[in-house]
Amino acid sequence: MKFVGTVITSNFPPSPTTSNFSFVITNDEPIPVRKGQYVQINTEDGLLLGMIQEIIKTNRFYSHAEYVKEYERGGQPLTSIFPCDRWDMLIATAKPLGVFSNGFFDKVSFPPSPGERVYVADDEVLVDLLGLDLEHGLYLGNLRFHDVSVSLNMTRLLQKHLAILAMSGSGKSYLASVLIEELLSRKIESGRVAVVVIDVHGEYSSLANKPDKDVHSGLSDKVTVVKSSFVQFATPLISNRWFGAFQPEMSPIQVRELGKIITEMRREYREKSYSLQDLLIRIENDSKIPQRTREAMLGWLYELEDTRLFGTEETPDLENIVKAGHAVILDLSEATSLRKKQLIVSYIGSRLFGLRRRGAIPPFTMILEEAHQFCPQARQELAISQSIIEQIAREGRKFYAALCLISQRPVRLSTTVLSQANTHIMLRISNPNDLDTIKASSEMITSETAAMISSLPVGEALIVGSAINFPLFVKIRKRYTKESTYEANLEQAAKTFEQSTSPDIK
Ligand SMILES: Nc1ncnc2c1ncn2[C@@H]1O[C@H](COP(=O)(O)OP(=O)(O)OP(=O)(O)O)[C@@H](O)[C@H]1O
Ligand SMILES: [Mg+2]
Repeated sequence: MKFVGTVITSNFPPSPTTSNFSFVITNDEPIPVRKGQYVQINTEDGLLLGMIQEIIKTNRFYSHAEYVKEYERGGQPLTSIFPCDRWDMLIATAKPLGVFSNGFFDKVSFPPSPGERVYVADDEVLVDLLGLDLEHGLYLGNLRFHDVSVSLNMTRLLQKHLAILAMSGSGKSYLASVLIEELLSRKIESGRVAVVVIDVHGEYSSLANKPDKDVHSGLSDKVTVVKSSFVQFATPLISNRWFGAFQPEMSPIQVRELGKIITEMRREYREKSYSLQDLLIRIENDSKIPQRTREAMLGWLYELEDTRLFGTEETPDLENIVKAGHAVILDLSEATSLRKKQLIVSYIGSRLFGLRRRGAIPPFTMILEEAHQFCPQARQELAISQSIIEQIAREGRKFYAALCLISQRPVRLSTTVLSQANTHIMLRISNPNDLDTIKASSEMITSETAAMISSLPVGEALIVGSAINFPLFVKIRKRYTKESTYEANLEQAAKTFEQSTSPDIK
C-alpha cells in the first residue's frame, strides 16, 4: 500500500467533514498523487474511500508578492536562499465517497480524523467501491491512475439505457465500437443480447473486417451490414395509425378512413401480401370516401410511395436477422434525406420493439448515432421517429429493449429521452450550453467534474449513473477490430484524390 499523507484541519472550507477532507502530502516522490485519484483511510467506521478533487502547492516564503519582488530586485533569485522544492508543501483536498466495512459499502456519516494516514486506494477495494463486474462485465478500458479494468455490469449499463455524449472527434463512435465488440464477445452463460446499430455515417461496417489478432477473429463473423437501399417495409404490417405517424399532418378523419380500407384490404388479401401501390389503387377506386378526404389521403400516401421504402415483404427480415450475440449494422450513409432516415428508424424501432414485446427476438440494444436527429428537443423540428424512441426510452426497460444514444449536441436531444438514460458516458465536451445540459441531467455532476469534462483528451471518458456506484474516469481501450479508413487525415485524402486523377503523381 502506498502511503501518501496525513489528514489535516482547515478552516476555509471547514474540514475534515463528511463531504470533504484535506491532507498534507508527506510522500516525497516527484508526483505522489494526481487529481482524480482514489485514496483510502482506516477510520473507526471502516475503510473510508475518497477521490482527490484538487491539489494545492503552497510555499509561505513566496506568499508575499512584495517580498519576492523586493528581494529579486537585487538580482538574486529567491530560490538561492529558499529552494522551491525543499519548502514546497502539497495539500490535497478530497471528497469521501463511501465507507467499506464487513464487506459492504455505506454512505459516509462520520468524518475522518486529523492525523489519520492516507494511502492510495487498493485495486480490489476500488472494484467493490465502484461496483465493477470483472467476471461478466463489459471491459471498456482502464481506470485513470489505477491498474483496474473498468468492466461494467451489462444489466446496470444497458437495462435503463445509455447515452454517449461528447463533441465531434472525441471518440464516441470508437467507444461504441468497443462496446459492440464486448457485447459480441460474450459467452452464452454470461447472457448475450442482440445489437442493432443505426449507422448514420457508415462508420461501423469496419466491424465486419477481420481483426489482426486471431483471438478476436470470430467477431467479424457476428456482424451483418445492411445498406439503406436494401431496407423495405412490409406494407401489410403498417396500420393506419402508423401511417398517421409517418405523415403527422394527416387529419384524424383521413386516418380513420384509411383504417377502414386497410381492414378491408387485410381481409381480402388474407395470407397474401400487398404493396403501397395496391393500397393506393384501392383508395383511388373507392367511391365511398368523400372526394376531398380521398385526394388528401392519396397525396400523403403518394409522398410515402416516392421514398421507395414500402414493399410487400420486409427486408431485412428482422425476426430472423436480429440474433443474440450478433450485430446488425444499418448503414444509412447513402440515404440522402433526413426524413428518409427518420422513416427507417421509426419503422425499425417500432418493429424491433413489437417483436421484442412478443418475445420473438432476444433482448436487444439499439445504438442510435446522431440521436438528436431522431428525437430532437425542439418541437418545431419534431421527427417522425420521435414517438417510438420516446416509447422505448420509457417502456423498454420492462421488455429488455435498451437504447444507446450517441450525440454530439446533447442540448438538441429530447430531454424526455435523455432523462430516461440512466448512465451517461461523456468524453470531451467544451460547448458551455452542452455542459449546462449535462449538469442539469445528472445530480452527480458537480461544477468541478464539468470542468474536467471540458479538458479530457481524446479517448478518455467520465462515466456517471446507474452502471457504477460513483462517477469514474476511464481511458477507453484500443479496438480489436480495424478502424475504418474514414478518418484518414486531410493530407492523405488530398493526395489520394490527386493520385487517382493523374497517376504520375507519387
Ligand atoms: N480510445 C481511443 N483510442 C485511440 N484512438 C481513439 C480513441 N477514441 C477515439 N480515437 C480516435 O479519434 C478519432 C475520432 O474518434 P470518433 O470517430 O470515435 O469520434 P466521434 O466522437 O464519433 O466524432 P463524430 O461526432 O464526428 O462522429 C478516431 O479516428 C479515432 O482513431
Ligand atoms: Mg462518430
